[in-house]
Formats: sequence, structure tokens, C-alpha cells
Amino acid sequence: MCGIIGISSNKSVSATIINSLKKLEYRGYDSAGLATVHNGMINEIKSEGRVDSLEKNFDLKNLEGNIGIGHVRWATHGVPNSINAHPHSSHNVSVVHNGIIENSTSLKKFLVNKGHTFKSQTDTEVIVHLITENLKITDLEEAITNTLKQLQGSFALGIIFKDIPNLIVGARRGSPLAVGYGPNENYLGSDSYALKSMTNKVTYLDDGEFCIIKKDQVLFFNEQGIKVNKKIFELSSEESSYDKGHYKHFMAKEIEEQPNTIKSGIKEYVDNFNKDINIFNFPWKIEEIKSIILIGCGTAYHSCLMAKYWFEELTNIDVGIDIASEFRYRKNRFKKDTLYIFVSQSGETADTYAALDICNKNNMKTCSVVNVIESSIARDSNFVLPIHCGPEIGVASTKAFLGQILVLYIFILKLSSLRNEINKNQYHKKINDLKTLPELIEKTLLHDNEIQAISSTFNEAKGSMFLGRGFSYPIALEGALKLKELSYVHAEGYPAGEMKHGPLALIEKGMPVVVLAPKDNYYKKTISNMQEVIARGAKVLLITNKSEDEVISENIWETIEVENTNHDLLPFLLTIPLQKLAYYSALKKGYDIDKPRNLAKSVTVE
Ligand code: M6R
Repeated sequence: MCGIIGISSNKSVSATIINSLKKLEYRGYDSAGLATVHNGMINEIKSEGRVDSLEKNFDLKNLEGNIGIGHVRWATHGVPNSINAHPHSSHNVSVVHNGIIENSTSLKKFLVNKGHTFKSQTDTEVIVHLITENLKITDLEEAITNTLKQLQGSFALGIIFKDIPNLIVGARRGSPLAVGYGPNENYLGSDSYALKSMTNKVTYLDDGEFCIIKKDQVLFFNEQGIKVNKKIFELSSEESSYDKGHYKHFMAKEIEEQPNTIKSGIKEYVDNFNKDINIFNFPWKIEEIKSIILIGCGTAYHSCLMAKYWFEELTNIDVGIDIASEFRYRKNRFKKDTLYIFVSQSGETADTYAALDICNKNNMKTCSVVNVIESSIARDSNFVLPIHCGPEIGVASTKAFLGQILVLYIFILKLSSLRNEINKNQYHKKINDLKTLPELIEKTLLHDNEIQAISSTFNEAKGSMFLGRGFSYPIALEGALKLKELSYVHAEGYPAGEMKHGPLALIEKGMPVVVLAPKDNYYKKTISNMQEVIARGAKVLLITNKSEDEVISENIWETIEVENTNHDLLPFLLTIPLQKLAYYSALKKGYDIDKPRNLAKSVTVE
């Protein structure tokens, strides 16, 4: 999951490539590089670490050239260092790549026998030498067509040539790739987001296609090397904020933005006048949908699990959920009356996209819940439910999670009403409750100092557990994921009732355990499970909601009380302290909160 940029212009391109690479760091940030063609030479600079280090280590003024490609890497083959950083070049060809070449070992053997030497440990380098080899025997278009046929796996490629110095080749199989159009220059980007600062006119390559980009012309070809015409799309001019404002980190800003996330979601879908929910242009009759399967990865998967609980509570429809990387390789039984819902903030997650693609190929009904509406997943779904929460830059998903569960909840309420599974009064009451949510979240965000104080205990421990039952279980999983991804401390989310079947053995004196026990139908059961861990020495942080009921405080280390609201909405509030707990733990450790080690914002490899 790397980021690619290419520019073919009538002026020097290196500074613009560097700026675009900075925007692309959400796709990978362990190394970066760029190459230009100038005066009959390929000039290449690469560095381990962030794009900043490229700027520090090289004088960009020396990197002239009106044609160039750049790359930010998230390592798959070979450790993150400057040798394995892209571009990879031969004497004539330079390549940037996102994806994985599955037959790189056999191709490498073949190329070594032909006399090619390899410098890096990457799979990408075989592409460079394969094109170089194929160019010895035929012209550019045929050499590219032949090379792509020899590659197995997934790729988005940007390629420049010393001997054909006026163009860039882009090619796609599996990994997304877009072309952008500007005045006297044209662009290649791993997604439209990468191009947005330069143009709002883009074309998306389809699987198997390649393109030739000159400063004043772009040509597209299919797998057989035959020219094809492609549509130009206009990107939305939606104003978005990509800076941290007065916050230290994007994550802190994004946590605090959540009341607005909910407000925009409500504004988008709730009809205040008629006390109803609008899902415009839904392409199917409600009777056509007999079951629903929700699919996602990471936090988005937790949203799917959350939705399953709401579906079961508010409708009688059959619901299943799946992790995209599992779904895509399983033998699935497709049924015409199933609606497949794909949840993804970026809309570019490779596993989620692959699962969607399988459903589309089987003519299933597909719907996506996404943040980035120009993304591949949004474009290729039959129907889109946008979450409209604005750009989420921090690798740890926060406001997108709340946005996803809000849109799913709204959709479920509407479905329940259309299926006559909820009475009118209840339906209106739930819509009214929803409108109070932004204010309740604002109040919950005020639990700041106490969470800061608690957070060191989690850093100092060997590990921690997050427990919940029912509606709180997906939130426990999400809380544990946030803590481990940001503060590199082992954290496990578990259904509280399952502890006695094994994990209870992990509990020892002083181990911090978060217990999510709002006063809902599961309350008493969860409290019993909490007592079981306390009895074994756990230091319990109880997160519950304010209410008239008796507050249990005996033997509890710390308690946080979120606001009170209808039970359906408590998961929104329970999430906030857990996001803050992860944030402050990482802050105390001095870790890179917006870019945790080994991760990327958009996971575009399988
Ligand atoms: O863009 P997506 O929502 O498809 O991303 C899915 C996961 O990669 C993502 O939620 C990941 O788990 C987050 N880093 C968690 O904070």
C-alpha cells in the first residue's frame, strides 16, 4: 500500500512531486523517492523515512526534469531502507509500484539468466528489468502489453524511460490508479485524492488497462494493447480542512470534531420536518432484501459488528458480518436477495475492494458506507451511503468510526420502519434522541484530565483487556485496537462473558482492565464478570453511563460516567473515553500518534 504520483509537464516537476508525496503519506511512510528524466538521464533520489528526509538529504534544485515519478512506501518485500525505496531503475527504465508481484522469484531467475543484476530485495525490481528486456525486442506499447502479461499479482505502476523522455506509462491490475488533466501537464496518481490539489478532472483506469501520459495528451489501452476511450470525471469541490489547527495531532483534532461528524450525518439523512429518515435513490424495493452481510477491515469491521447488534435489535432481517480478507477467499454462497454492505473510511482498502469486486462479479446487490466518495469502493458499489465526516488524516480511525456507526444506525432505523418492525412513536422518539447526540458527545469529550491521569497505568502494564457485552462488545474491540495501534501495548478486546473460557488466566495483580458496563440489559451480567476479574487482582476502569441506579464502586480502581441516553446510542458515548485513553497513552510515550509504526492510513495491499 504505497502512494504513486507522476507528472508530465512543460516545467520542472520535482517540487510538485514532493508536495504531492507529502499528501500521499497516508498510504505509507517508511521510505520515499522520486525520479526524473533530464538531459538523456534518469536521476533518482531515495531515502529511508518520511518525505521530509528526502528534502533534507537532497537539494531538489539539482533534480531537474519535466517528467517525473514519485513514491511513498509501505514495505512488503524487503526492509524499509533507501535501497528498497522506490523508484527502482535500470539504465533505461524507472518504476514506482503499489502492490505485490507474486511470481517475482521465478521472473528474477529468468532475468538473472539474461544478465540482469538486482540491487534491492523488492519484488518491484523485476518489473524494471522485464520492461528493459522487452523494450530490446519491440516498441513501447507492445513491450508494456507483454510485460503486464508476464506479471502475476496486483499492481499500480508509474514508469519513465531514459530513451523515451517525453512520457509516463501508468498501468493497473488490482491496485487503483487515476489520471488527472491540467493545463500543459497531466498527472498519474494512486487515487484521485493524490491529484485533488492539482486538478478536478480525472479518469480512473480499469483493471488490466495501461496509459501513456504526455504533457498534452493521454492515451488509454486495454489488456491486449488496443486503444480505448475513457470517461473524464469531475471531482467534487468540497472544501476540506487538511491542517491540524491548534491541535498537536490530527487525531486529537479528529476526536474533538466528532460532535460535528454526527451533526453532518444527521443533516444529511434526517428530515426534521417530517420526523423521518431520507435515503434517496435507494435502488431496490425493500421486499427484495431478505438478508444483509456487512464487510470491512479493522475499525470498519467493528462498525459492521456494531451494526449487527442494532440490526438484530431493531429488525428481523438475517444479518451476517465478515472480515474482508477472510470473505474474499472463502467459498461464499451468493443469494440474489442479500444486500452486501461494504464499510470503509478510505474506500481504497484492498481486501474490502476485492470482496466488493467478487460480489459485483456475482451480480449481487452492493452498497458501501464510505468517507471518500471518489474512492474505488464508492465508485464500484451499486449504492453509496456517505458518512461526510471530512478528511480523516490520523492513521487511527476515530471520527470515521462514529460516522460509520451513525450512518449504519440511521439506515437500520429506516429499514426497520419500512419493514414495519418499529412503531411510528418509537421511530420518531429514536430520531429525536439521535438529534441530542452531538451535545452528549460534547459533554463526554470533557472527560479529559481524568483520562490523561489514568493513561499511564496502561503504558506501564504488560498488557490490558477491554471487556463488554452486547452493544458494548464491538466498542471493547475498538478500544483495544486503538490502544495497541497507538501505544504499542498489548490490549485485547473480549466479550465479558467469555473470559472464564480461557482469557481469565491472563489476569494478574495490577493488570488494567477496562469494563464497559452501561446500564442496559447486559449491565448486571457484565458487572458479575467485572467482579470475577477484580477477584483475580485486576485494576478495573469501569465505564458506564450516569443514571439514577445505584453506582457500584467497591473495589473499582476508576469509574468514568458518560451521559445518559437511549440504550441504542450509548456505544457512541462509550467510544470517546477509549479514543482518548489511546491518544494520551501514546502521547506520554512520545510516539508518533498520527503515523504509528508499521501502519498506513489506507491499506491498499492484501
Ligand atoms: O479505510 P478503511 O476504513 O477501509 O480502513 C480499514 C482499516 O485499515 C482501518 O480501520 C484500521 O484498522 C485503522 N487504522 C484502525 O484505527
